[in-house]
Amino acid sequence: MGCYLDVEKMARWFYRFVRVAWLLLPQSRHWGFKWQPSRRCCKFQLSKEQQSFTAEVIFGVRQGDSEIFVGSQGTAAGVASTTWLETCAVAEAKFLGHISRQAPQDSCHCKCLQLLSHSLLGVGFSSYTLKTVLTHLLSTIPLARWCRMDFPQCLLEILEFLLCSLQTKRLSHFVIGNQSFPLDISLPSDLRLAQPLNLFEHLASHQDAHLKAVQEYNALLHGLKQLLVHSH
Ligand SMILES: *[C@@H]1O[C@H](CO)[C@@H](O)[C@H](O)[C@H]1NC(C)=O
Repeated sequence: MGCYLDVEKMARWFYRFVRVAWLLLPQSRHWGFKWQPSRRCCKFQLSKEQQSFTAEVIFGVRQGDSEIFVGSQGTAAGVASTTWLETCAVAEAKFLGHISRQAPQDSCHCKCLQLLSHSLLGVGFSSYTLKTVLTHLLSTIPLARWCRMDFPQCLLEILEFLLCSLQTKRLSHFVIGNQSFPLDISLPSDLRLAQPLNLFEHLASHQDAHLKAVQEYNALLHGLKQLLVHSH
């Protein structure tokens, strides 16, 4: 047996480290600091009077010099504390960073993602699904069209793409198996050449899951309409 990294032990070590460091900061006199126990990450809550916010620290180990990490994210029950899951989150963030630098200043793509993530509460689509849809659209729709005036139009485009993916039961992972992923974002070569990954694979093989996803789509659409009506 070789060595292994245990997420839980690491989280405890990190927590002790942060708690000591926190007491040395002047802010510690005015802000309450609470640790929210979590097995796979470090969650802290800072609060002062009516204000409060939560910070979540996820640990990651980089694979070589690539932008792919194995991370401590994921809360699925029964995941051993020594299991680390591969994540493309950093590569995706780099891609979105590229786009944001090229996009017009008043581009609404972040606003779209925020609004959609917000309306996800209580609806079954993961924010990862929506982020993937948005990334696909950002690389196909000319960036100039994402300006703020077109906000409802952008939302519609996202929903239409999502509907189309639902109907065809196919949503390609943006990084894994994408041979056109920008070369200046470093990936392990086997990832680029891998079989493209369908994030909706489970919908293709399970009729019930597909039906449920369509219902969730309708709920999402309904929620958004309400939100748009109330904000006008
Ligand atoms: C692969 O990445 C490029 C961006 O470099 C994007 O235009 C394309 O849509 C992506 N393809 C897939 C199948 O994800």
